[in-house]
Amino acid sequence: MDKQIIASAFSEFGTDKGPRRHNYQQAYSSIFSTWSPQSILEVGVLEGASLAAWKKLFPDAMIHGIEHRPKPLIEAATGIPVFEGNSTDKTFIDTVVTTQYDMIVDDGDHRPDVMWKTFLNLEDKWTKHYVFEDVCVEENEKILRRRLRGRGYTNVHAWTSSFNDPKTNLRGTVQVKGEMLYPPFYIVIVTR
Ligand SMILES: C[S@@+](CC[C@H](N)C(=O)[O-])C[C@H]1O[C@@H](n2cnc3c(N)ncnc32)[C@H](O)[C@@H]1O
Repeated sequence: MDKQIIASAFSEFGTDKGPRRHNYQQAYSSIFSTWSPQSILEVGVLEGASLAAWKKLFPDAMIHGIEHRPKPLIEAATGIPVFEGNSTDKTFIDTVVTTQYDMIVDDGDHRPDVMWKTFLNLEDKWTKHYVFEDVCVEENEKILRRRLRGRGYTNVHAWTSSFNDPKTNLRGTVQVKGEMLYPPFYIVIVTR
């Protein structure tokens, strides 16, 4: 699938994955060029913009979300089940995630240790790709790679979010629960 098609779906529903902010269409086109997921689980869905984009790109796929502070979903995402709870809660995950997904995307908390805990909770729940979005600063991207290598994952690719190139734009700084996350942000895709 061409990256313009992906970018246009991201733009249509306003997720920050697209040209509005992170430009992750390049990274996603690398896996969608020869493969279409039949099932997607996304952690962290806000109002469902990315869920709606996934639905537009893969209309026949089973799409589910996880969100600990659910809001009413935008109209285009209604009908997509969202499990209410925290991805770091293993009991919750094992209760609601009762199947394996072709692709899991973590666009939830973004703090490295929380992302890692979520990954471990979901480790046996995906078959093809696990995506970490908005891994902040190169050092954390390296730590993540080291941890993944330690668990035997060798097929790991990362792209920078072009919006947050520190040389050109520092506006991407965000705060999560009192902790500042600094650009550049990375998207890291693990493949089995
Ligand atoms: C960046 S927003 C998601 C944006 C959405 N994926 C999109 O592209 O439109 C992050 C969301 O993750 C949720 N979140 C953060 N940590 C979480 C966790 N540990 N478990 C579940 N949801 C979480 C937040 O409440 C927030 O709605």
